[in-house]
Amino acid sequence: MQPTSLYEAIGGAATFRRLVDAFYDRVEQDELLRPLFPPTFDEVKERQYWFLTQLFGGPRLYTERRGHPMLRARHLRFPITLRHAERWLHCMAAAMQEVELPRAAQAVMLERLAGIAQHMVNTPGEEEEA
Ligand code: HEM
Repeated sequence: MQPTSLYEAIGGAATFRRLVDAFYDRVEQDELLRPLFPPTFDEVKERQYWFLTQLFGGPRLYTERRGHPMLRARHLRFPITLRHAERWLHCMAAAMQEVELPRAAQAVMLERLAGIAQHMVNTPGEEEEA
């Protein structure tokens, strides 16, 4: 028997769709994050769905459609500070609670996403400026 991926364990495509919807509903309401994003979220939602699916052991949707993720490079055109990363994670944690992911899955996923979010920081925040 194949070991079950986290992706499958929490409900596969339907769960990841709900998570991504809940997440961007929050980003859309967030005064710090909203200005970085385009007027509509359809495309970024789709890409995030592909990415999270792949990251947590589902089909490799992102790489099939967009090639190597190179996420840091893809985020360089946006000035991302530590505050942005924290806010991003806060929105994601709230979205996970809203869709009622099992607590153990939330912890594993947030830890993984925290590492990636930190890696996206490319701009010093106010607290770091001279
Ligand atoms: C740290 C704070 C973050 C900010 C402020 C941020 C912001 C953004 C913005 C503004 C876009 C582009 C929207 C557009 O197409 O115009 C984007 C794209 C994307 N972000 Fe983030 N992001 C952050 C962290 C993350 C993290 C942690 C992940 C991974 C879980 C991620 C995954 C993605 C993906 C997959 C895309 C689409 C890339 C593509 O194929 O073009 N982001 N993000």
